[in-house]
Amino acid sequence: MTAVANGAGEWRSWRAAAREALYGPRGFYRRPEGPAGHFRTSVHVSALFARAVARLLCRVDAALGRPARLDFVDMAAGRGELVTGVLAALPADVAARTRAYAVEIAARPEGLDHRIEWLPEPPRPVTGLLFANEWLDNVPVEVAQTDAAGVARRVLVRDDGTERLGEPVTGAEAEWLRRWWPQAAGTGWPEEGRRPDEEHRSEQGRRVRQGLRAEHGLRAEHGLRAEEGLRAEEGLRAEEGLRAEEGLRAEEGLRAEIGLPRDAAWASAVATLESGLAVAVDYAHTRENRPPFGTLTGFREGRETAPVPDGSCDITAHVALDACAAACPLPGARLLSQREALPVLGVTGARPPLALASTDPAGYVRALAGAGEAAELTAPGGLGDFVWLLQPVGIPDVLAP
Ligand SMILES: C[S@@+](CC[C@H](N)C(=O)[O-])C[C@H]1O[C@@H](n2cnc3c(N)ncnc32)[C@H](O)[C@@H]1O
Repeated sequence: MTAVANGAGEWRSWRAAAREALYGPRGFYRRPEGPAGHFRTSVHVSALFARAVARLLCRVDAALGRPARLDFVDMAAGRGELVTGVLAALPADVAARTRAYAVEIAARPEGLDHRIEWLPEPPRPVTGLLFANEWLDNVPVEVAQTDAAGVARRVLVRDDGTERLGEPVTGAEAEWLRRWWPQAAGTGWPEEGRRPDEEHRSEQGRRVRQGLRAEHGLRAEHGLRAEEGLRAEEGLRAEEGLRAEEGLRAEEGLRAEIGLPRDAAWASAVATLESGLAVAVDYAHTRENRPPFGTLTGFREGRETAPVPDGSCDITAHVALDACAAACPLPGARLLSQREALPVLGVTGARPPLALASTDPAGYVRALAGAGEAAELTAPGGLGDFVWLLQPVGIPDVLAP
């Protein structure tokens, strides 16, 4: 990707910009407050989540025949909250055999349980459970947007979040779009047999400059992906004749996040497993329900915000977990919602019986609070819609009901 110097800053691809904004020396994830200072994951919502993961580790342990050394890898561990909770929730005989690892780019927090090994990469080989909660959505990806002629182009961004379109998406990235996000794949006109003539080309250049700078303020408020006014005014949806002639298919302004780096990241994490289970939990979509305008967004101090790659906010996009699964040629992978997964691991939102209130008032209040937290972890439209990708290696499906 060629960056183009510009008076107001450099145009970079979203992947390069987000990588520096999140993980560079002054990156968002290097900040002392950690992710919990800006948003809540399931881990922060309730200790019930870590207890459920501890139960999952026990099931993996049983499936492995209770090995002398059982690994638990908290992949993308934040400040180690999940691994700390899992160790606390394990039965003593399992805890005694467990090697606990936190894999994280950020530095080890002070005061962390000495039993937890803090690593920049997963250990290998792993025998046990590798659990990645909200990791893959923070693996930076390229963003593509279709131009007026329906061609998928790389979106370039500056540090202040302004965008313009760059070159057409080609090669492995175009292939990924065609396979996994076909609505936004466009045609990639530099391909053999599809090159528009010079007149069409300069026409496309004009369209890109005039019409396709997305307006982040608008997006944050209204969920808009590009300025509708401009598009409509210019009539920049390719005329039918042009489309038919060139075989162009996609609408203008469709966006997609190209998941290749996430597929690779997931495949390399799973490759560390000798036997056991790898689990990725994230907000996700599959080929059948990709969002037409992508999902790139930001978070800062508890609020969703425009994704500005200056290190001040999180930059995240939902994960094509079906593509991640396919990147690991192993049998037995499956996707299920957190709403389905957690009850199997003992987390239910059932209210305690009212009779408990008179026999054990404190216990009743505790149980009520637990039910509330369980409901939040499994709520439709919220954390319950998160998707779990289960990737067993050499063991059966331990989450089968
Ligand atoms: C949204 S936070 C999730 C933290 C924690 N898993 C939780 O659920 O609360 C994402 C974390 O992934 C970490 N991360 C991203 N890429 C990573 C990588 N390649 N290796 C290790 N950690 C990574 C970030 O530093 C950040 O702490």
